Amino acid sequence: MSRGLFITFEGLDGSGKTTQLRHLAASLEAEGHRVVTLRQPGGTPLGDRIRAILLDSRSESEVGAIAPEAEMALMFADRAQSLQQVILPALAQGAVVLCDRYTDSSEAYQGAGRGLGSERILAMHRTVCNDIQPDLTILLLPPLQSSLHRARRRNERHVQQLGTDENRFEREGDVFYARVYEQYREIALRDEKRVIVFADEAPIGVIAQRILEAVSARLAQTAADATPLASRVPRSSNERF
Ligand code: TYD
Repeated sequence: MSRGLFITFEGLDGSGKTTQLRHLAASLEAEGHRVVTLRQPGGTPLGDRIRAILLDSRSESEVGAIAPEAEMALMFADRAQSLQQVILPALAQGAVVLCDRYTDSSEAYQGAGRGLGSERILAMHRTVCNDIQPDLTILLLPPLQSSLHRARRRNERHVQQLGTDENRFEREGDVFYARVYEQYREIALRDEKRVIVFADEAPIGVIAQRILEAVSARLAQTAADATPLASRVPRSSNERF
């Protein structure tokens, strides 16, 4: 059975990645692909519980301040569970898996933002996730200030409507987010084959189209790689069978 394609979406809060993930899912489904979407943290019953602890801005009043190492380990506990319960089974059935955040987020937020360093994150990834990498990562990296502006406007609406921050990370300041942003840039330079960066501020539909083109090219490549060699070699006209 052919293996599917594992695609992750990355970027700062307010970068537009969740909107783009939904666009891509709809386009691929319209083309007849089986698509499985999930987000991290979350995406499984265990992951949803971990998400509530990690992201609910009120959880620290119950559990106390969350140590950066505990935050990192919980992000990976969530990831291990979604790999086993959702991502690997879907890939084995040939689906396209679209995952909103993955280990690059841990490297950017816990590694750089919280200062734990990339090495500890990557070592954890090898241990807990068997070093499973996405086939492709769509990194939305518009200028830092515009992501921050959008995320804060969205958070203000959330506070007005529900009385709490959208998530615990909304409390972080510009310096934290500048570190996250720089780390994403470094990841893109380091893994340039896997990571495609969309750094400009084009309209949503324009970026959606570019993402679809990049993903379609990768899907075509995967299909060609999976085709048995014999059926790809043109037979010469005087072959007798
Ligand atoms: P979420 O509400 O899903 O928002 P977004 O649309 O920004 O993804 O929030 C996820 C938050 O969790 C986000 O602020 C980044 C953070 N995060 C980490 O710090 N490390 C991780 O490994 C992951 C997956 C997320």
